[in-house]
Amino acid sequence: MKNILIDCDPGHDDALAIMVALAHSEAVNVLGITTIGGNQTLTKVTQNAKNILHFLDVTIPLAKGQEGPLVKALKTAPEAHGESGMDGPYFDGESYPVSDLTGVEFLYQMIQASTEKVTLVALGPLTNIALLLKTHPDIVPAIEAISLMGGGISHGNQTALAEFNIYVDPEAAEIVFQSGIPIIMAGLDVTEKAEITVQEINALQNGGKVSNLAYELLSFYNQSGRQFGFIDSPIHDLCAIAYLLRPDIFNGVQADIHVITDNSPARGLTYGDFRRIAEEPKQTFVLQEVNREKFVELLVDSLKKLDRQVENR
Ligand code: RIB
Ligand code: CA
Repeated sequence: MKNILIDCDPGHDDALAIMVALAHSEAVNVLGITTIGGNQTLTKVTQNAKNILHFLDVTIPLAKGQEGPLVKALKTAPEAHGESGMDGPYFDGESYPVSDLTGVEFLYQMIQASTEKVTLVALGPLTNIALLLKTHPDIVPAIEAISLMGGGISHGNQTALAEFNIYVDPEAAEIVFQSGIPIIMAGLDVTEKAEITVQEINALQNGGKVSNLAYELLSFYNQSGRQFGFIDSPIHDLCAIAYLLRPDIFNGVQADIHVITDNSPARGLTYGDFRRIAEEPKQTFVLQEVNREKFVELLVDSLKKLDRQVENR
């Protein structure tokens, strides 16, 4: 059993990652969720987190994190996730309790209170995580690992060179990658192989309540992906959770990862030292391949599990 905290910017793929985590309470204990400005403004992504948690009828502690990145202004992604940040399904602005603590203090107190080490799962820009590590360096030994969706060795998606989560806050990302904490990096090299097909999306329709919500999320996300040249849909953030549940369906390589933080066209680029003898410790396990069929099977089975849980409540 892993104690985990999820930092996210829901976000269609963030929402699916949260669902799969909550479907596997035998393997991961979700201590709490924090939100970060990213796909949309902090207010919007926090409302989306409230909508999902209310829909699933769970009582996971929730806290709002930072509005935006450490240095530059927030750049949201309405072109990918819509004006709400999670367009597609209808939600009626559901109410759900939000902690009075800041995201950073919430993370700090949750980790301190855990009797076991905690794994952080980062699904958006890394601002909250970087501030936690800088504000409370004493917490580092209590963190087992950081499983993050972000970056890409071969290419970007926000620019030719930088992936969105890292591009939004490269300064925060460099702090995290150099923290000395073991990192699992689900970058675009693996997440763009973790695709669900249109046929598999359609098969979710008319399933249970949760499967149908996933169908509505993925239908919008699939259509939105067409503008970027995708036919099927990469469920980027789900990789960071799926690795914790099924590491056997992935492979990768250890490396020392750095982030470009200047104002050049390479801003937000993640690069790795993959030499056999690297100058720095190889703290990051860079995921490279995934068994797509087993990845989608994990999602579908998790949704069916939640269908049963929600219907039996
Ligand atoms: O580049 C993909 C990442 O950007 C995912 O986390 C997605 O939710 C968006 O935030
Ligand atoms: Ca995200």
